[in-house]
Amino acid sequence: MGASGSGKTSMRSLIFSNNPASLTARLGATIDVEQNHVRFLGDLILNLWDCGGQDAFMDSYLTTQRSTIFQHVGVLIYVFDVETNEMHKDLEYYRDCLDGLRQFSPDAAVFLLVHKMDLVRDKGGTFERKKKELQEQTEKGQGPGQVLTSVTTFGTSIYDESLYRAWSSIVHTLIPNAAVLSKHLTIFAEACSATEVILFERTTFLVIATSNPPSEPEAEPRNDLEPTRYERTSELIKAFKHSCSRVREEFHALEMELPEFSAVLDEMTKNTYVLIIVHDPTIETAALRLNIRMARRKFE
Ligand code: GTP
Repeated sequence: MGASGSGKTSMRSLIFSNNPASLTARLGATIDVEQNHVRFLGDLILNLWDCGGQDAFMDSYLTTQRSTIFQHVGVLIYVFDVETNEMHKDLEYYRDCLDGLRQFSPDAAVFLLVHKMDLVRDKGGTFERKKKELQEQTEKGQGPGQVLTSVTTFGTSIYDESLYRAWSSIVHTLIPNAAVLSKHLTIFAEACSATEVILFERTTFLVIATSNPPSEPEAEPRNDLEPTRYERTSELIKAFKHSCSRVREEFHALEMELPEFSAVLDEMTKNTYVLIIVHDPTIETAALRLNIRMARRKFE
């Protein structure tokens, strides 16, 4: 959900259709609702509704189509254009959507994306201001005893990795067995003497789960790992895959051996890729690839 031109279809086309950001300027306005079914993990199918944001459509979602639009919602993603001149109207629609959600899907999670952050100079300050404003509006819209489960706000742009951070987090809330996956990835990381192991969805390259940091007390936590490394990897691999497709090559796997660390990225299951990061120079990448091959059946 979100006003017309706020960037909903652009983000969908980047994440789910592998199109580059430069092509989004050609997208036309969405008419009514466009539905996408994305097979995510085995039997888990993500049913994505892109709701065209022109006023006439919004009014119809909130009146005649209300029960169809707000029934069985897992996650509501509301996109706000950071530079909009019509914030007042946006907020009115947003509060009405919250109301629809409370009525028909009270357990749904809510994600607010303050989008097109590339257009503002003071990113930190602007984001904090918008986040506070949205928080106030959310509270204002909540009646007594009707608190929605969770509302999370992200600053995003199609021109950097921030979009992947937000969408990985969104998808993570929809994966029923994320904690079990993390547990298995942690065991796999230990077996590989790896610093960490990350599982990505095959088409979107969104992060599904990661291993947990080692729990032994003698293991020093590493502080040289970039906090944005997951979403940067998603963005870089997606761009690389796009370059491969332009020369009609298919992306299969990736291996890096640097003095500080080695990395292996390879298919784990039909729908996932795994990335193993190792800082121990005695571990051979061939051994990591062998471990992936042997672990495949367990993760299928
Ligand atoms: P409706 O279909 O009418 O509801 O609009 P929409 O929300 O789907 O908007 P759309 O995705 O069509 O994007 C409108 C314009 O915003 C396009 O020209 C995009 O290139 C541009 N845009 C989308 N995301 C960003 C972003 O992160 N930064 C900037 N600068 N422009 C963006």
